[in-house]
This record gives sequence, C-alpha cells and structure tokens, in this order.
Amino acid sequence: MTKLNTPILVINFKNYPRALGRGAIELSKVAEKVSRDLSVSIAVAPPQPTLLSVANSVDIPVLAQHVDDVRTGSTTGYIPIESLSRAGAAGSIINHSEHKIPHEAVVRIVEMLREYGLTSVVCASDVSEAEALASSEPDFIAVEPPELIGTGRAVSKVSPEVISRSVEMVSIRSSSTTVLCGAGIVSGEDVSAALRLGAEGVLVASGIVKSDDPEAKIREMAMPLRL
Ligand code: G3P
Repeated sequence: MTKLNTPILVINFKNYPRALGRGAIELSKVAEKVSRDLSVSIAVAPPQPTLLSVANSVDIPVLAQHVDDVRTGSTTGYIPIESLSRAGAAGSIINHSEHKIPHEAVVRIVEMLREYGLTSVVCASDVSEAEALASSEPDFIAVEPPELIGTGRAVSKVSPEVISRSVEMVSIRSSSTTVLCGAGIVSGEDVSAALRLGAEGVLVASGIVKSDDPEAKIREMAMPLRL
C-alpha cells in the first residue's frame, strides 16, 4: 500500500482541460518533482481514465476521484475498487461535494478499500457531516464547504471554525482518522492557516490546475508542509 504521509498536499485535478489525457501525466510529473525537491508529501487525483497511465508514470500516491460500491463483473461504466487496485492507485477520494453518495455507501466503500489495503479520503461538506462520517473510521476526512470551492476564498481564512471544530469532532469519533481541508485554498498562507487550525494537509484543485505556473504554485503550497 502506498501510504499517504502527512502533512500532505492532495491535488484534485477534477476534469479541468489541462489535466485531461497526457496532461494528467505531465502535471503529475510536476507534482512528483516538487515532492522530491522539497521532501514534501504530495498526492494527485487525476481524471479517472488516466489512472493507470499516471500511476505508471510517477512514484507519488495516485488517488481516484471516486469509486463505486460495486464488485467486478457486469457493472458497465462503474468503477469497482478492484480496478483501482489493478491500476496501481493508492486509494480514492469518496463523497466529494461534486460527486456525493449515500452515507451507507461511504461506509461500505471505506471498508472495501481497507480490505484492499487502499487509502480512503472521505469528503465532508461541514462539521456535522465530518463527525457523522468519522464513525466509519476512514484514513482521512477532508472537510470542504461547497460554497467556497473554486472561489479563491480559503476555508482556512473564511471559515476557520469549520476546520478547528471538524478536527475536534473527528478526533472524538475516530482515533485513526486524519483531517484535511479544502475549498478556495490558493496560497501558501492559506495552507499555513489550515495547519495552524489542526488540519494535517489540504486538498487543492483550481489554485494549481488552473494556474499559469502550476509548478510555482505547487512549490508555494508545499513549502509550509516541509517538516
Ligand atoms: O477537492 C478539492 C477541491 O474541491 C477544492 O477546489 O478549486 O477550491 O481548490 P478548489
């Protein structure tokens, strides 16, 4: 199992045009270079069709952006966990606010990922969802207020109490779950603020993937994560 060490920068490529096809490999190699240069833990979550290619191209952890609660076999178009495992993925983001699933499915998927030795990064929209989903004891819970996603208004500055309360409530429900945060994080200072609030890493998308200079932006966001 490719462990996600903390503190960590997780880059969610979503389906932004720059990250489609070979672009996912190129951007992942940039992230790998920064991870190596700064000795900082960085993981990437490329578009689903590129998972195998990206996992074969870089040594940093590669996450799926979603996985389905299905087995292998006649499940046309779905993504079973076995396919992630065979593609070399380290784990999966689950329940992202742009791809939400029922909580009972989250619980089953976290358990199935654990059976495969894969990492679960469960997304929560607010403190109460983070607290509820912590009961399934995922490896990570990423709290991301949907209204801040893509705005450049960092959750760590606009809603710091969401992070600090999520850290507090998750620690009560699960001693094995690490809290990350995301939404609007676009600078190194936003990352530093998240760490001060108790998060052990961040999820970032547009601030990096839509940047004019992704390498410079990854470096900027990785610097506060250096041990
Ligand atoms: O998964 C992280 C993502 O939803 C955050 O989006 O563009 O605000 O960094 P963004």
